Amino acid sequence: MEIIHVSAECYPVAKAGGLGDVVGALPKYQCKAGDIAKVVMPMYRTKFLYDNEWSVEFKGNTNLGNWFFDYTVIKEKSNKLGFDIYLIDIHGLLDRQKIYGYDDDTDRFTAFQIAVIHWISNWEHRPDVIHCHDHHTALIPFMLKHCYDYQFLAGISTVLTIHNGQYQGWMGWDKSNYIPRWDLWKRGLLEWEGNINPLACGVKCADKVTTVSQSYMDELRMNANGLEKLFEYERGKCIGILNGIDHDVWNPETDTYLTDHYSVENVIEGKEINKLALCETFGVEPSKPLFVFIGRLVGEKAADILPESIKSAIDKTQGNASFLILGSGDSSVEWQLQSMKTNYAGVFNTVIGYDEKLSHKMYAGADFLLMPSRVEPCGLNQLYALRYGTIPMVRNTGGLKDTVLDMGNYQGFGICFNEASIHDIVYSVERAVSVYQDKTHIEWMRKYMMQIDHSWESTVDRYKQVYLSA
Ligand code: ADP
Ligand code: GLC
Repeated sequence: MEIIHVSAECYPVAKAGGLGDVVGALPKYQCKAGDIAKVVMPMYRTKFLYDNEWSVEFKGNTNLGNWFFDYTVIKEKSNKLGFDIYLIDIHGLLDRQKIYGYDDDTDRFTAFQIAVIHWISNWEHRPDVIHCHDHHTALIPFMLKHCYDYQFLAGISTVLTIHNGQYQGWMGWDKSNYIPRWDLWKRGLLEWEGNINPLACGVKCADKVTTVSQSYMDELRMNANGLEKLFEYERGKCIGILNGIDHDVWNPETDTYLTDHYSVENVIEGKEINKLALCETFGVEPSKPLFVFIGRLVGEKAADILPESIKSAIDKTQGNASFLILGSGDSSVEWQLQSMKTNYAGVFNTVIGYDEKLSHKMYAGADFLLMPSRVEPCGLNQLYALRYGTIPMVRNTGGLKDTVLDMGNYQGFGICFNEASIHDIVYSVERAVSVYQDKTHIEWMRKYMMQIDHSWESTVDRYKQVYLSA
């Protein structure tokens, strides 16, 4: 089976969050399982682009509305990722430093999708499946079925995976001419509440729709940023498949970013060495339990209540807990965290920015990982924490609910709470500080969680079933 993943991100080529991790790993494990999986994504100006050798695969010319553009498809020469990776270069539009955040993102990702299908329409054979990820690629199923120039490709099965339903790619009808000549009777498929809604269109037109956990799939019918009714209506073709993690990248026995390697056997000693190094770097006291947060500083992650929660938790525990935060996002949250550094020196520190290497050191060196997310379709941080023996403290939502069992239960190994509130976070920190004294219980939890299987090997087959049914 030949599967073409189309995505805005793919680690290590370009990553802004978990989408990059998933698209950088799933195809590799699909190839290992005997299928042919490939990834096609925009060509941004990233380090990976300059550090590797590329061959030109195809040059084409097509249009976005009245604008005719040339595009080039390049392929990494050595197959070093374990799958073929193709980048689409549209000069001036895609070849920028950042992945998202430009005023013309609608034009960028619509042109990207058109280039992808224009290129595939020039192949001598047809792939079996086109697997789209999030709204940036969600117009492709419509284009294959209802755009006159591409309808001959309609036999290719399409799957849309929703990693984040909050963002839908809304565009006004004034941009409807961006979509290649389409059957005007099908206007209703593009529309949701007066706008063109690419994510809604993808849900309507893809043969199968998946989300990255079962609980998130269930939640979307109640809370989907306006698409609740659509998810209820289309529930027959929707399925939740929990993400896996890439053990080649996330493994404390081999992770080259760590100060010291460790396994289940020596997790206590191994984590201690990593913690000491981390605490020394950030000037926090290593004898106290260390809590970390890694992620986008946005409302979805409840980052707005982090500063007050941390202050309150430090007070309530009489300074018996240390916090280290890595992230970037809302400038007011960034500012509040920065300004706590002096007053809370010794028990608090923060790095504002994106730092892949530091994130690995933090998963290894921390005692607890905090994720109070309001919305969390799957969440990879808690899965990495489990793998590194770091106790997850999570709100009961989406994928967090599906992967962490509170320590109050039989064989529980985490700390769970219901509300994204200062009260619930502080109460959870108090529980953590208390259990931290019980070294035997902590050791049991760390060893138990490290052995839970969240590998992609055990997940790829579920996607295969979806492709077969598509
Ligand atoms: P989301 O995709 O919603 O941001 P996930 O939990 O699925 O959340 O994935 C987040 C990924 O991004 C993880 O690999 C995490 O380690 C990484 N990450 C997030 N913020 C940072 C940061 N500031 N520096 C380094 N890695 C980060
Ligand atoms: C999204 C979600 C996150 C999920 C990731 C990968 O960014 O916010 O919960 O883990 O995609 O699927």
